[in-house]
Formats: sequence, structure tokens, C-alpha cells
Amino acid sequence: MKALVYHGPGKRSWEDKPKPQIQAPTDAIVRITKTTICGTDLHILKGDVASVKGGRVLGHEGVGVVEEVGSAVSGFKARDRVLISCITSCGKCEACKKGMYSHCESGGWILGNTIDGTQAESVRIPYADNSLYGVPKGVDEDALVMLSDIVPTGFECGVHNGQVKPGDKVAIVGAGPLGLAALLTSQFYSPAELILIDLDENRLALAKTFGATATVNSGDGKAVEKVMALTGNKGVDVAIEAVGITGTFDICQDIVTAGGHVANVGVHGKPVSLKLEKLWAHNITLTTRLVDTVTTPMLLKTVIAGKLQPKKLITHQFRLDELMKAYDTFGNAAKEKALKVLLSAG
Ligand SMILES: NC(=O)c1ccc[n+]([C@@H]2O[C@H](COP(=O)([O-])OP(=O)(O)OC[C@H]3O[C@@H](n4cnc5c(N)ncnc54)[C@H](O)[C@@H]3O)[C@@H](O)[C@H]2O)c1
Ligand SMILES: [Zn+2]
Ligand SMILES: [Zn+2]
Repeated sequence: MKALVYHGPGKRSWEDKPKPQIQAPTDAIVRITKTTICGTDLHILKGDVASVKGGRVLGHEGVGVVEEVGSAVSGFKARDRVLISCITSCGKCEACKKGMYSHCESGGWILGNTIDGTQAESVRIPYADNSLYGVPKGVDEDALVMLSDIVPTGFECGVHNGQVKPGDKVAIVGAGPLGLAALLTSQFYSPAELILIDLDENRLALAKTFGATATVNSGDGKAVEKVMALTGNKGVDVAIEAVGITGTFDICQDIVTAGGHVANVGVHGKPVSLKLEKLWAHNITLTTRLVDTVTTPMLLKTVIAGKLQPKKLITHQFRLDELMKAYDTFGNAAKEKALKVLLSAG
């Protein structure tokens, strides 16, 4: 089969690989019909993710058709259409029993990381019963690919941990796919204000069409003043950090109102400073989270019912065998005006 293979920093190719085989009775082999590229894949290609070794097939998002299941898989059979979770989970260990699939003792984020991933014609999914979700006939698969990672991440790490409530003032720093997924899913709870902050005017304009009530370009360094002006100098109930750098974390600390929540989503490569000299008396809650994808069944229902339309996040379509070209587009997201790129087989 063909697959997108990482060969060390800056090196990737679309090449022949042996077709995956069942290795454990709990495995399934899935033929990929749709997949996409994540910002994390770009981090891997820069050499930022040490656990990913040369020769690895990348990708942790996708939908497909089950080709074969191991003898212990009871929830799926050949020809079932499935959504693949970016998080693999055994469902039995202590972390899984707490619903913290991201910390599964023999799973977690392993696809396209420590085992071969979904940017290929076929993929092996361990613990298939707990790591795959059945897709009802007639559901738009393009939309579902967004449920492998981006939408549960924006929802669980941003909206759910941030405890967005009706009437809340919410600010989301970062209007990338994750910030925009948080923007879409925060609307489940009818917040009064949804302020999106970014440097990219194109993404801010899109955010407006996705339900942002106001946008702030932070390029002039005045994001805090602008958000305070927009909120009658009170600040926001929920500040969601969806970039992963110290400056954007600082914005969140400076705009959260007393009693509010700062929900960190961004992956931080460097330390940030916690402004406890101000926040100690501010009754705030600060949360961090690696996505668990425990809300996938709920999110799937909202997509099927048309309440959530994550397809909006897809800006570019390619054939699966155009993965190399799709990486070029996604890697130049600002210039190409790209959010999520979708790859379809056949
Ligand atoms: N917690 C988790 O489980 C989890 C899972 C996946 C990804 N992530 C992380 O979430 C973050 C967002 O992911 P994404 O795919 O949307 O990334 P992205 O790079 O596509 O988007 C980030 C956005 O931040 C904006 N930005 C950059 N610097 C800024 C600044 N100084 N001020 C304001 N905006 C700025 C960019 O213009 C861009 O629109 C990343 O750090 C990613 O690694 C977290
Ligand atoms: Zn991802
Ligand atoms: Zn587990």
C-alpha cells in the first residue's frame, strides 16, 4: 500500500509500505476513505516530537471501512464504516476507567506517533472496540473527519474545561482549527459574547462567519486593552488559550474576570509565568488537558442532527495520493488561506 512516511526532520515521502496486519486479537484493520493533516504533524516534521522515529507513517485522524478484525473484537466487523479516534484506549486500565483515555496505560496518542498512522491506504487500530466509532449510513464523512481530533480537542480542553455557560463572555486566543472548533462548540451553551483573537485577518474574518461576536487583531500588542473595552472593563468569564506561547497565555491571564476560567489548549514548548501576584485573589480556575475524545459519541450525535457543522473547517480538498501536495498547502496555511485540508481515497 501507499503511505505518507516521515524520514526525520524536514523529510517526508509518499511511498510503498507493507499493508498492516492484525497483531493482537483486539486489533482492526481499517481502509482509509478520508483523512487530514494536523498542526501536530507539522510539529513532527520540524523534529519537535522526539517519540516519532524515521520510517513512521504519519496521521491520527480519519474515517474508513473495516477490512478485518481480530478474534476479540465484538463491536465491529468487516465492511463497517468507522470514525477513528486520535486517541487509542483499552477501556480497562485505571486511566480509561476515569474517562482519561489520553493517559491509557497501553494507548493514548500513539497513532502516527509510536505506531503507524492514518495517512495511508490502510491502518491498524489497536483496541478497536474502544478506539473506533460506528458511522451511520448517509452521514457526511467529510464532517466526521473533524471529529477524530480537532473538534473533541476544542470542546473538551477549551469549552468543557472552561465551563462555558449561557450568557458568558468568552474569549478564544488563536483562530486556528482548534480555536475555531472551540468557537463552534461553545455555541452549544449560548454564551453572550465570543471574542476571537489572532494575528491573521483572514482567520478572524472566518471566525465572524462562524459566530464570533467580535474579533481582535493582537498584532499591535493591545489585545488586552481591546478586550477590556469590549467587556465594560470587566474581562471575560472564560479565556481559552489555543496557540501555545507565552504571549497568548499572558493575554488570557490579563483578561479573565474574577471567578473566571482560563482553559489552556495550546501545546507549550517553553515555560510561561503564572501571574499569581494578581490572580491569587481572583478566584480563577486554570485547567490543562490532553484531549481524551470521551465526548466523541456526543459530538457525533450533534453532527448527525445538524446542530454542529464542522465541515466548515475544511478549506481544501485533495485525493489521498496527493498527500505530498496537501502538506505543502497546509504548511503554508496563512498564504494558502488554509484551515483543514481533506484527503479522499478513490
Ligand atoms: N491540548 C491538546 O490535546 C491539543 C491537541 C492538539 C493540538 N493542540 C495545540 O493547540 C494549539 C492550536 O492548534 P491549531 O491546529 O489551531 O494551530 P494553528 O497553528 O493552526 O493555529 C494557531 C493560531 O494562532 C495564531 N497566533 C500565533 N501567534 C499568535 C499571537 N502571538 N497572538 C495571537 N494569535 C497568534 C495563528 O495566527 C494561528 O491562527 C497548538 O498549540 C496545538 O499544538 C493541543
Ligand atoms: Zn492532531
Ligand atoms: Zn486504557
